[in-house]
Amino acid sequence: MSQTVRKAIFPVGGLGTRFLPATKAMPKEMLPVVDKPLIQYAVEEAQAAGIEDFIFVTGRGKHAIEDHFDVSFELDTMLRERKKMDQLSAISSWMPSPGQISYTRQMEPLGLGHAVWCARHLIGNEPFAVLLADDLVLSETACLKQMVDVHAEIGGSVVAVVDVPREHTNRYGILDVESDDGRLASVRGLVEKPAPADAPSTLSIIGRYILQPEVFEFLDKQEKGAGGEIQLTDAMAATLGNGSFHGLRFEGKRFDCGDKAGFLEATIAFALSRDDLAPAVREIIKSYADE
Ligand code: UTP
Repeated sequence: MSQTVRKAIFPVGGLGTRFLPATKAMPKEMLPVVDKPLIQYAVEEAQAAGIEDFIFVTGRGKHAIEDHFDVSFELDTMLRERKKMDQLSAISSWMPSPGQISYTRQMEPLGLGHAVWCARHLIGNEPFAVLLADDLVLSETACLKQMVDVHAEIGGSVVAVVDVPREHTNRYGILDVESDDGRLASVRGLVEKPAPADAPSTLSIIGRYILQPEVFEFLDKQEKGAGGEIQLTDAMAATLGNGSFHGLRFEGKRFDCGDKAGFLEATIAFALSRDDLAPAVREIIKSYADE
């Protein structure tokens, strides 16, 4: 049996330049989809997958994230006094217990691989998950839970993947596939943002990973890759051959919330998935479609 995945890294040190000016004084990961910040969706997904240790790799200007995962004394007291129990639950029921969250600072946003490397001492020598909050997944079963189940069965590294149009391969990390049963693809290579003509497939990695600690050995070298950044994809590629590596086509729909159109689509889809909002939102959409 493979070792249980108990720890997850949440890299939140990026600058979020595609969302300026919204992200000038607020972390991108705190942007709300309907009424919940992106980072809370990611933490709840990790909780649903059985994660016990939540490691945030933060940077300058990210205090709002720490405050969000802390008790708000004034709000708590006021809601308790006014007996607003639903709202009290909305601000606290999902919080990990004291001691389950750790924070480390990336200091310089040198790339996703560098952000993950900054958490190496908190991970130690065991498999771990990485969740990027700006990839949001709407699914019956939490996306990371689907991956943890696959990992429990076959071990190794597991990344969540989606098929993308060939003209978009230059935006993502792309798999070079050895075999593929339509759900699980066995990986023999990985390329970061290949030009459409050079892409070995159209299977793109989304921001959900289960990785082995060996990945830190490559990240220790601090080598820069595409865009002059220390890329997680390059480090994962270096570990290929040391155990199995699979891409999972998960059940559910992924929204790229780092992109404005993807963020707007997520807002619509999540609103439509809620009984309290769906009828009103459907009416609104209809009124625009009729224009
Ligand atoms: P992105 O590639 O979306 O970069 O990072 P970004 O800086 O957040 O946003 P843009 O492109 O400037 O608009 C994907 C994830 O990796 C984290 C980000 O916080 C985000 O969750 N990240 C990226 C880091 O933690 N550190 C980095 O150096 C880079």
